[in-house]
Amino acid sequence: MGDYPDVAADPTGAHHVPVLLDEVLRGLRVKAGMWFVDCTLGGGGHTAALLAKSAPDGRVLGIDADPAAIRRVSESQADAIAAGRLLLSAAPFGHLEKVAADNGFSPVDGVLFDLGVSSFQLQTSERGFSFLQAGPLDMRFDPAQTFSAADVVNDWDEEALADVIYRYGEEQQSRRIARYLVKHRPFATTAQLAEAVEQAVGGRRGSRIHPATRTFQALRIVVNQELQQLEEALPQALRLLKPGGRLAVISFHSLEDRIVKQWMQNEARSYVPDPTRLHGGFDRQPTLRILTKKPAVAGEDEVSRNPRSRSAKLRVAEKLP
Ligand SMILES: C[S@@+](CC[C@H](N)C(=O)[O-])C[C@H]1O[C@@H](n2cnc3c(N)ncnc32)[C@H](O)[C@@H]1O
Repeated sequence: MGDYPDVAADPTGAHHVPVLLDEVLRGLRVKAGMWFVDCTLGGGGHTAALLAKSAPDGRVLGIDADPAAIRRVSESQADAIAAGRLLLSAAPFGHLEKVAADNGFSPVDGVLFDLGVSSFQLQTSERGFSFLQAGPLDMRFDPAQTFSAADVVNDWDEEALADVIYRYGEEQQSRRIARYLVKHRPFATTAQLAEAVEQAVGGRRGSRIHPATRTFQALRIVVNQELQQLEEALPQALRLLKPGGRLAVISFHSLEDRIVKQWMQNEARSYVPDPTRLHGGFDRQPTLRILTKKPAVAGEDEVSRNPRSRSAKLRVAEKLP
């Protein structure tokens, strides 16, 4: 990792280690003077490395729905901001093209998504992302949003709750969990919810992960509309790129990865079957070339340094002329 900052620290002692950093820099083929959009600024670890590698005049537009991330990086990167090399915007990346247009930031050489939640968010108990920390049932990336995890858990009917836990948590015991939660609600804290899910499924039963892991993932996805955001942002990222520009996406679970993989495969296709004909279809100009036939994953060394990287998958593609 050498010259690049490995850890973004914060006065509370929390820190976020960027995953697959070398792979991202290589995938985006970062060179001096290039422009990048980091759609998931977080602790600013990837952004700091993009700035360092594109010096002296490369530029980054950093976006995050969480204003706390924007505040933190505006302090840690005050020099880059003053030099006009870093622009920051608190916004959902589903508004990517508008944010870029508002900042006069297009076309660009690369776009990065490092999806999901940051260590800062997980480690700040008041944000309610973690069942390891007692906090309110919140889970909003953007605290100005009114809809939070408490609304889903305490207000949604049993069937809707079960569907969400099944669909976004890929939880086989979703019906049983939803039934238990509806019977025992309201819940106010993450700890109460985690305990209730554990009760609902009959305890840990030797499982490696906490029984509430998948339910928490489902709630976070629905509260922040994470999959819809991703589906909306990918085509916008493609339009923002210069021909030859690159898109890098790091995902942390199969639902995200499937969306990225299928979208890239579709854009890379030069032939589209016609659903109205048995044999036949259309030739068309592909818009992307996929550079990672299989997604890049963290090696043993990175996983031992940063356990969060264990489930990370990086896919990279290049925009065709
Ligand atoms: C895994 S962290 C990124 C960490 C960052 N790459 C680093 O090196 O520090 C993901 C960040 O993306 C943000 N995020 C997730 N979904 C978002 C969305 N739809 N729009 C904007 N930001 C989003 C989260 O608030 C979080 O700060």
